[in-house]
Amino acid sequence: MNILDIIAKKRDKNVLSKEEIEFFIQGYTNGEITDYQASSLIMAIYINGMTDEELTYLTFSMAKSGEVIDLSEFGETIVDKHSTGGVGDKVSIILLPIIASLGIPVAKMSGRGLGFTGGTVDKMEAIPGYNTNIDITKFKENIHKVGISMIGQTKNLAPADKKIYELRDSINCVDNISLIASSIMSKKIALGSNKIVLEVTYGKGAFMKNIEDAKLLANKMEKIGELANREVKSIFTPMDEPIGYAVGNTLEIIEAINFLKGKQMPEDLKNIVLELGSYMIKLAGQGENLEENKQKMLDSINQGLAYEKFKQMVQNQGGDISYLENTDKFEKAKYELKVISDKCGIIQEINAKEIGELACFLGAGRVRKEDEIDKAVRNCT
Ligand code: URA
Repeated sequence: MNILDIIAKKRDKNVLSKEEIEFFIQGYTNGEITDYQASSLIMAIYINGMTDEELTYLTFSMAKSGEVIDLSEFGETIVDKHSTGGVGDKVSIILLPIIASLGIPVAKMSGRGLGFTGGTVDKMEAIPGYNTNIDITKFKENIHKVGISMIGQTKNLAPADKKIYELRDSINCVDNISLIASSIMSKKIALGSNKIVLEVTYGKGAFMKNIEDAKLLANKMEKIGELANREVKSIFTPMDEPIGYAVGNTLEIIEAINFLKGKQMPEDLKNIVLELGSYMIKLAGQGENLEENKQKMLDSINQGLAYEKFKQMVQNQGGDISYLENTDKFEKAKYELKVISDKCGIIQEINAKEIGELACFLGAGRVRKEDEIDKAVRNCT
């Protein structure tokens, strides 16, 4: 078997075997297959698609490309959540401490932003001192100690996905159903959670531009979940406009803190958090009634429990909680420009993709994977 024959087979619209897909994933993970060879194959997959069998083989071999984590020490049910990406999406940062405050263990590995979409890890790192780069042993210790840990992807968890995702970004092959489904589900399988709530976004600021494609993507991920013995529930979120009021790492963290303190809850953000959370609680076996679950979440915020949990997690991972207590301490952008309309009217639309690209241009995101980001866009003139 060799990679050139595999590339030619996919280029010519043929179906790859399990062995060929495993050969590619193993070879690319250990460096025997080069970036340019992998790029050709990924582009051929992007153009010609994959059958359901090919997608299953791809996902499972990506999941097995590194460590597969056992979380059974936290109980029979471990609930996870993943978003297919968006602009102003600080849902995990708000939702997961609420869930943990209800006594449900939360083990969350998040990603960094790429392109115009933001990433939870970059946002959490806007809190001075907060460490997202910890190993699995410490990750588990944190969950035992405070019931929640939110970290970045370790080198060893689905390393094939890490390489392929960065490659896809640099060759403009991100928005493809097979490639997104395998990327997300390989990480979920490797992480060892058995119940997964997926936030599947669609619209201008998402990779899926319409609800039909979002449903197709969700359906593929649910089928993979079934094969892997994971219960998957998909929730569809429109992403034509940014979620909440803030876009940008520091601003989104401040918005999340204010939400957890119960100070300000933008309606769209609140609806998404409550909807996803009500299913997480249900999957965790802590409540069948979704409306009651939403009320439990609101109670946790109103009683200060969700914010307290967030503070515990931040402190436990080295973050300076004085920034949470007083958000004025966060460094802000050097320049502020108020855009005041010279006539009365109603804003009909705010294009999420354009706002995401603008934030990225100001320093909030990366254009290339090695770019440094500027959490407060301090240096922008
Ligand atoms: N999130 C992921 O983890 N992978 C993708 O391909 C898209 C969104």
